[in-house]
Amino acid sequence: MTFSITLKPADKQFGVEPDEAILAAAIRQGIGLPYGCRDGACGSCKSRLLEGRVVHGTHQDKALSAAEEASGLILTCCATAQTDCVIEARNVPGSGDFPVLKMPSRVLQIERVASDVIVLRMQLPANQNFLYRAGQYVEFILRDGARRSYSMGNAPHRLGSPPAIELHLRHMPGGKFTDQAFGTLKEKDILRMEGPFGSFFLREESTKPIVLLASGTGFAPIKAIIEQLQAKADLRPAVLYWGGRRPQDLYMDDWCQRTVAQMPSLRYVPVVSDALAEDGWTGRTGFVHRAVMEDLPDLSGHQVYACGAPIVVDSARADFTAQCKLPADEFFADSFVSEADKHARP
Ligand SMILES: Cc1cc2nc3c(=O)[nH]c(=O)nc-3n(C[C@H](O)[C@H](O)[C@H](O)COP(=O)(O)OP(=O)(O)OC[C@H]3O[C@@H](n4cnc5c(N)ncnc54)[C@H](O)[C@@H]3O)c2cc1C
Ligand code: FES
Repeated sequence: MTFSITLKPADKQFGVEPDEAILAAAIRQGIGLPYGCRDGACGSCKSRLLEGRVVHGTHQDKALSAAEEASGLILTCCATAQTDCVIEARNVPGSGDFPVLKMPSRVLQIERVASDVIVLRMQLPANQNFLYRAGQYVEFILRDGARRSYSMGNAPHRLGSPPAIELHLRHMPGGKFTDQAFGTLKEKDILRMEGPFGSFFLREESTKPIVLLASGTGFAPIKAIIEQLQAKADLRPAVLYWGGRRPQDLYMDDWCQRTVAQMPSLRYVPVVSDALAEDGWTGRTGFVHRAVMEDLPDLSGHQVYACGAPIVVDSARADFTAQCKLPADEFFADSFVSEADKHARP
């Protein structure tokens, strides 16, 4: 039996199978809901159940606490409907526009850009028309069925020839996929992937100035968004804050410097939190989101796009809205949650 989901205030309706997560049904039918990890860990899909009943699968307390659940909030990525439901959720125009494809992809190039970061170029199959928005991600499907997400680091008009997506991977020692990617993966290997996923992309209808906040490889989707701004000759003022522990963590600093020189609307502020004397770092120091707050104490007229380490994304969301007057619905983020975060003690 199929249940009917009605979204408010958009008044959109779609069907969901009894054992299917509400978000999965929405993605399958091209309905634009907000989401990030699809796995109960980031909280991006949090919505309010106005009518009906759902059951939640495994999820993190950080993403949805028991008190929030009791107050009627749900995570659409791990909630299955038990009845017809009415849900209050942000409509994300555009997030369901492109079909989600499952396809093999070939490793075209592996480039080591820092001691713990590689840029992987994955060739797209010629017989599939893979379309995505700058900011979205793909999932690799591993042999045991586990999935790992990586954000496209190039905008769709920069696929090149042969068409290939660029992914920035940070090594997490002990990690199921990145141990393999940094160990045995080689050019011409084939990996199965699925995508595009995600509601983290530029809201083109806005004219507000933009803060782009990246931590570590969270730079990948931000780079794609900058390429898109550049291609559209979008003159909205934008400022990129990119944070790492050491200067070498800003592994495409030269790309940023070059791009800023070509884009008068873009500024770039690199921020390093744990520079050593030997680094000779003379730039900004400290936590990257704190640098934003020092420079822009009033964010009430801005949009923020934040990506990378969950601690950075969560701190930015909390502090920007509480202390810098950023409207909560002008904060867009993808939090790079991993198994470590999913199993961390609260
Ligand atoms: C939407 C999204 C986009 C992302 N985009 C990117 C990207 O562009 N670039 C990028 O580098 N990353 C990205 N990530 C993170 C990425 O998907 C992986 O989580 C990351 O690469 C680690 O994968 P792994 O298989 O190597 O490690 P995992 O197997 O997930 O392990 C991660 C770490 O946790 C430890 N661990 C494993 N299991 C447990 C456990 N049970 N208890 C405690 N610790 C455990 C491991 O030892 C390891 O150190 C993204 C994540 C999301 C959700
Ligand atoms: S918690 Fe649902 S998408 Fe991350």
